[in-house]
Amino acid sequence: MEIIIQPSAEAATSVAARIIARLLRDKPNAVLGLATGSTPLSLYRELIALKLDWRKVRTFNLDEYIGISPKHPQSYHSFMWENLFRHVNVAGKNVHIPDGLAKDIPKFCDRYEKKIVAAGGIDLQVLGIGTDGHIGFNEQTSSLASRTRIKTLTPQTLKDNARFFGGEDKVPHHVITMGIGTIMEARQNLLLAFGSKKARAVAEAVEGPLTAMNPASVLQWHPNAKVFLDAASAARLKRGEYYRWVYDHKPAWQQF
Ligand code: F6R
Repeated sequence: MEIIIQPSAEAATSVAARIIARLLRDKPNAVLGLATGSTPLSLYRELIALKLDWRKVRTFNLDEYIGISPKHPQSYHSFMWENLFRHVNVAGKNVHIPDGLAKDIPKFCDRYEKKIVAAGGIDLQVLGIGTDGHIGFNEQTSSLASRTRIKTLTPQTLKDNARFFGGEDKVPHHVITMGIGTIMEARQNLLLAFGSKKARAVAEAVEGPLTAMNPASVLQWHPNAKVFLDAASAARLKRGEYYRWVYDHKPAWQQF
């Protein structure tokens, strides 16, 4: 795991945007795994501003709420089109987001997994982290080998996401999410976390034991995972100074 701590969320986001921009320039038909939520908003704004060529890029989103239409303003379909896709030249046929209205959810999930494999696997997965350590909507105690499937949100996540729906009681309880096993097969994982609310989950994920009680901790086992933090989300790390030193003293050939 590589821990990149920057003074602000904007600075950390810029480093992540640079890595994605380079991938899209080196591999125009790259396969991106994408996340929603507050965290990647500024990342998407930066990517839009970079005016990259998305014509051949394929995308797979991590998750979607079950039971709401893609047109619902809080669906992750709406989120992605509003905040990224409609601003770049991505082809609609290359965009994949779980279908929250799928009639046969297990079948849909199985097909989603197969589409990822058919696309050649995910080159780079963008992740946020829940205050409880979830990645995608793989809540605490999710199997570390799980695949795309239905999950039930925890009371904590319902509370955290109430802001988007105007009340906890309005947040759908069920979701489709890529599994932890699916995420672990991405060739590269970039996890972004900003603000003091994420500090505990980040410290547990990075320096705690690898445990399903903090699903993001599984990234310790991933061969190419980078964690982008601002000062607030990094505040509880025991080795923060070490990570800062490592990043500031990267040999030229290792810089991104
Ligand atoms: C969303 C997702 C979630 C969020 C996490 C953090 O697609 O996969 O894991 O990344 O809940 O959400 P924010 O960024 O809103 O704090």
